[in-house]
Amino acid sequence: MQEFKVAVIAGDGIGPEITDAAVKVMQAAAAKFDFRLSHASGLAAAAAVDAGKPPLPDETLKLCQDSQAILCGPFGDPRWDNAPPAERPERAKLILRKTFDLYANLRPVKPVPALIDASPLRRELVEGADILIVRELVGGLYFAEPRGYFDDAKGKFGVNTMKYHAWEVDRIGKVAFESARLRRRKVHSADKANALEVMQLWRTTMQALRDKEFTDCELKHVFVDNCCMQLVAEPKQFDVIVAGNMFGDILSDIGAQITGSLGMLPSASLGTGVPLFEPVHGSAPDITGKGKANPLAMILTASMLFTYAAKRPDIGGAIDRAVEKALEKGLRTADIARGRPGEKLVGTREMGEAVLSELK
Ligand code: IPM
Ligand code: MG
Repeated sequence: MQEFKVAVIAGDGIGPEITDAAVKVMQAAAAKFDFRLSHASGLAAAAAVDAGKPPLPDETLKLCQDSQAILCGPFGDPRWDNAPPAERPERAKLILRKTFDLYANLRPVKPVPALIDASPLRRELVEGADILIVRELVGGLYFAEPRGYFDDAKGKFGVNTMKYHAWEVDRIGKVAFESARLRRRKVHSADKANALEVMQLWRTTMQALRDKEFTDCELKHVFVDNCCMQLVAEPKQFDVIVAGNMFGDILSDIGAQITGSLGMLPSASLGTGVPLFEPVHGSAPDITGKGKANPLAMILTASMLFTYAAKRPDIGGAIDRAVEKALEKGLRTADIARGRPGEKLVGTREMGEAVLSELK
């Protein structure tokens, strides 16, 4: 069997610490299942700029192009806090998503049983919740033109454009319905059709898709502001939530609190090019270098890589179970520690090692 090649981009802030843990888990999982895997690292974002390179160096892009999957840490650095979007390290990730046309970002929100009490929501609300957020990732407000800074008679102004063609809505809708078919066949489409033309088109396109190709699935339209509220009021009503780029970004951070921490949420970005796997959280500059970061979102991201890119859900499932077992033993990084009896506060390395030993 041919080697499965993974490009690893650790990224900024806590990226290198959590990526180190995730790569060790990825290697151990491959070894356990006799899966031939190789990986090579590339620089991007602030880490690349610090090395005197552009945020997305050509050699990193080439490495990604020559790989079958990309494992990517968080991008972002406070030194660019006041820089315009085009100059920020995060832009490298948006370029990667766009270059590989990774239009479907899958963000599963499913609390691990041992962590039910880590959520700020009451146990009875989150226990049993199992949601898949399907976020459109290469269109909408993040990418459409016109964008930029301009001047007119009233002075300087900034512009971004929320634009979707029907075909873009159609293809992300298909991903949502096809995912729902493997689950509970229920799709909530989050839009803002009460205020925006682009979202009116989103809504009618979703409905037409459902009526034409997915009559076995239920489709409910929900205004995105209401969807935010429903996510915390009654998360268990949701199966698949599909949303545009900006709304999906916001909804997934809310969703994270159902699992207790943003440090628990993995994601897969799929489309026509090389698939990319990234945690939902950011680079967490406040805890960088302290060995405190939760590596589990990154480890669960490696699990999604096996499931979706290598088509080995058995290996992904083994990683998920190892994570669950480490948590059942009471191990907690600071973000998911609640000071309850039986908890043991650990750092990034210890948590990573615990997952490794459960896996073996
Ligand atoms: C995410 C992040 C990114 C996004 C940032 C870092 C550009 O918030 O993946 O959710 O907005 O897509
Ligand atoms: Mg986000």
